[in-house]
Amino acid sequence: MEYSKLLVEKENGIAIVKINNPQSLNALNSTILGELDTLFTELENDSSISVIILTGEGKAFVAGADITEMSSMDAAEGKAFGEKGAKVFRKIELLSKPVIAAVNGYALGGGCELAMCCDIRIASAKAKFGQPEVGLGITPGFSGTQRLPRLVGMGKAKELIFTAEAINADEACRIGLVNSVAEPEELMNTAVAMAEKIAGKAPAAVKYSKESINRGMQCSMDEAINIEANLFGLCFATEDQKEGMKAFMEKRKAKFNNK
Ligand code: COA
Repeated sequence: MEYSKLLVEKENGIAIVKINNPQSLNALNSTILGELDTLFTELENDSSISVIILTGEGKAFVAGADITEMSSMDAAEGKAFGEKGAKVFRKIELLSKPVIAAVNGYALGGGCELAMCCDIRIASAKAKFGQPEVGLGITPGFSGTQRLPRLVGMGKAKELIFTAEAINADEACRIGLVNSVAEPEELMNTAVAMAEKIAGKAPAAVKYSKESINRGMQCSMDEAINIEANLFGLCFATEDQKEGMKAFMEKRKAKFNNK
């Protein structure tokens, strides 16, 4: 499928998705949200892809939801727009494959929320993070009030959301909003190196690990332990478990069923 605002490159099991609307700093409008929705379904079903990297063209990762589009919305339209974004972001979060955000610049509002629905965030030293919505008269609308406290704790999330202040990449790393910071020219190499590392591992084991963490973090410890036990058990029905353990015992590198 052709996308008007997304660039997609696929190589060695890794898809690099670039949001490409730099003249409005990749602000998320209905078109981009719709394209992300379609693309992530396509990537889910593409058996040649095991890891996805999401980044932005130009000086922004994403500078938020599109303020021009939102400016004339009434309450029902605002709710529907929020639900549309939240649905796409949830799809990314629940994707059976890891998604790495390579945050190249501004990640504000919907941009910070988009980064947060990815599994891992690597930030350029130039990146800026924040939830400026209350300065525009709205709450975060693409699940930022939910994912930010889960990532950085309730107090820090409330501070960032109530003050609407942006923070730099080092501070984002310090509070656990991003995993690591890279020099701008090294950002994509760093993200690709991590993606390659993951792509070289047993795909079902990575998929089940993601599912176990995602589901387990939302329920009681006892339920979570059960979820892990079931997924751990499923691994033993895979060829990759047999190959991974056989390779260890034969003191050689495992050859997994990676496409
Ligand atoms: N929605 C719609 N358009 C946006 C946008 C957004 N969230 N963020 C940036 N743009 C547009 C600007 O309107 C401008 O368009 P123009 O050239 O037609 O005037 C263009 O992108 C470039 O932005 P500009 O503000 O000139 O760049 P800058 O480098 O001076 O400032 C920011 C960068 C990110 C600080 C500033 O664009 C900004 O504050 N954006 C809004 C951030 C925000 O509040 N996001 C949350 C939305 S809920």
